[in-house]
Amino acid sequence: MKFFIDTANLAQIREANEMGVLDGVTTNPSLMARENIRGEEACRRHYVEICNIVDGDVSAEVISTDFEGMVREGEELAALHPNIVVKLPCTADGIRAVKYFSQKGIRTNCTLVFSAGQALLAAKAGATYVSPFVGRLDDIGEDGVELVAHIVQMYRYYGFETQVLAASIRHTQHIIRCVDAGADVATCPLAAIKGLLKHPLTDSGLAQFLADHAKVNG
Ligand code: E4P
Repeated sequence: MKFFIDTANLAQIREANEMGVLDGVTTNPSLMARENIRGEEACRRHYVEICNIVDGDVSAEVISTDFEGMVREGEELAALHPNIVVKLPCTADGIRAVKYFSQKGIRTNCTLVFSAGQALLAAKAGATYVSPFVGRLDDIGEDGVELVAHIVQMYRYYGFETQVLAASIRHTQHIIRCVDAGADVATCPLAAIKGLLKHPLTDSGLAQFLADHAKVNG
C-alpha cells in the first residue's frame, strides 16, 4: 500500500515526507490554485520543486480537454522530471491520450473516475494509475470505497497492471477502508495521514511510561 499526499502545498509535502512514509504526490488544478500558483511557467517550477522534495511519483494534471492539447501539455509536463506522471481526465479524449502516453512509455494517472466502466477503459488504455474519487461519491450518497473494491476485484480478475489509486480521501477511516478494499495507493490530505497515528491509549501509555521513569530518575 503506497501513500501519496494530495496537495500542492510545499510545507505539507515536506512534513509528510519527513515522516518517512511518503511514496508520492497528487495535485490537481484546484490544489494548484489554492496555493495561488499562476501561469504555466510558475506551475512548471512548482512541479519541479515538488519532485525535488519527494522521491516518488508526482501527478501533474493537464488543463486541455482536447486530445492534441493533452498530448502537447502532457509531453511538456513529462519532460520536467522523471517522476512526473501525466494526469488526464477520464473522458474520450483523455482515454485516447492515456493510450498515446502508454505507448510512449510515459506514466499516466486517469482521474475523475466514478464508475467501474470508466476504470475498465482506463486500464485497457494502459493507465499507470486510475483514480476513483471516494469522498465525492460519498457526498452524493454513494459508497466510494465500494467502487474502489469493485475496481480492485475487476483488475485482479483480468490481470490489469493499472494501480488503483484511491483519491478524494477525506479522513482516516477512508484510508483504512481502502486498505481493506485492496487499493494499491491512497492519496490523502496530511490531516488524514496524521490521523492514522492517533490513539488515546498511545498518549496515556506514553504519559505513564514517562511519569514512572521520572519517579525513579527524578
Ligand atoms: C485526486 O487526485 C484528486 O486531486 C483529489 O483527491 C480530489 O479530492 P477532493 O474531492 O477532496 O477535491
